[in-house]
Amino acid sequence: MPQELVDGYARRVDYLRLSVTDRCNLRCTYCLPSEGFHFLPHEDILRYEELLRLVAIASRLGISKVRVTGGEPLVRKGILEFLGRLCAFSQIRDVSLTTNGVLLESLVEGLWAAGVRRLNVSLDTLQPAKYEAITGVDAFWKVWRGLSAVLDRGFTPVKINVVAIRGVNDDEIEALAELTRSYPFHVRFIELMPFRLEAYEERYLSADVILQRLRAMGALLPARSENGNGPARYYQFPNAPGKIGLISPMSHHFCPSCNRLRITAEGSLRTCLFSDRDVDLRGPLRCGCSDEEIAALILEAVQKKPQRHHANDAPVAHRKCHSRPMTAIGG
Ligand code: GTP
Ligand code: 5AD
Ligand code: SF4
Repeated sequence: MPQELVDGYARRVDYLRLSVTDRCNLRCTYCLPSEGFHFLPHEDILRYEELLRLVAIASRLGISKVRVTGGEPLVRKGILEFLGRLCAFSQIRDVSLTTNGVLLESLVEGLWAAGVRRLNVSLDTLQPAKYEAITGVDAFWKVWRGLSAVLDRGFTPVKINVVAIRGVNDDEIEALAELTRSYPFHVRFIELMPFRLEAYEERYLSADVILQRLRAMGALLPARSENGNGPARYYQFPNAPGKIGLISPMSHHFCPSCNRLRITAEGSLRTCLFSDRDVDLRGPLRCGCSDEEIAALILEAVQKKPQRHHANDAPVAHRKCHSRPMTAIGG
């Protein structure tokens, strides 16, 4: 059996996304299912010890980067201590966090002390009232103060994730891009993925349209991504401290260079964001399987990692809604 995570299409998998909770303190319109939802019962969520054991096993198989996601990871009790233990793994050279930023301001020092340096923060608008309309919570200024605080503390890079939604925040593309002329943020526009479908066709905005709008703002130079194989293509205004990224899973999917695995909040291994062929790891973890047995399950799942997702096979008007909400998968 091979001891490195290489899939059936010769892609080397070295990046693990860990969803540590499906709970969230926001209710983003594009994320949570409109028909209502139930959070997972506490006992169904992997315990920190279980997550750390999986990371140890995965690191022996070549995983060297871990991104912690949710739901909202910062709402989980004990998260700072968990991040500290994750950062202490010598084989994991990069620990990062994706957060909605609501709790960031109060946790800046704790995150720094834990050893985290790379943060991705979701912020879809610069208008407080619109922020509340998108997320259900009046927390724009909290997030903004959090962003300022992490820049002041020296976190780098600090990426701002903007889900681009026609008719909702497309009037702010220029204003959001302008941030990169004043701050070292990497502002990344993400194509809306069909995790919740009301009016998907009207809401979807392609990265090409966004790029046209950015080019109309003046000179825009291609820029390098600092970590090579992330999903974003980067650009920069001349002499700007920040960068602009385009993440286009729908119009130009990045599957051929995908290096990712996901562990969902309830402990399933998911080899593609859009795939439903989850492999349960919680059962084996809790019924006494050895590290070798769990490693074998991971190796086997990676062998079967799908070549690409098919969420964009149909034209925009006919895209099917994905069966699982984003919250337990972690984006
Ligand atoms: P870094 O490259 O490490 O900064 O992380 P990232 O950009 O992958 O992480 P982040 O959690 O900020 O995700 C940004 C957006 O990209 C989210 O909307 C994710 O859902 C999307 N994304 C990340 N990885 C994948 C992937 O493998 N497939 C697809 N389709 N989308 C992804
Ligand atoms: N389409 C695109 N991005 C999404 N995210 C959540 N739901 C969607 C969606 N339907 C983003 C969040 C966060 C990241 C983890 O995933 O805004 O930045
Ligand atoms: Fe919470 Fe992120 Fe989903 Fe918004 S997109 S509801 S912040 S998990």
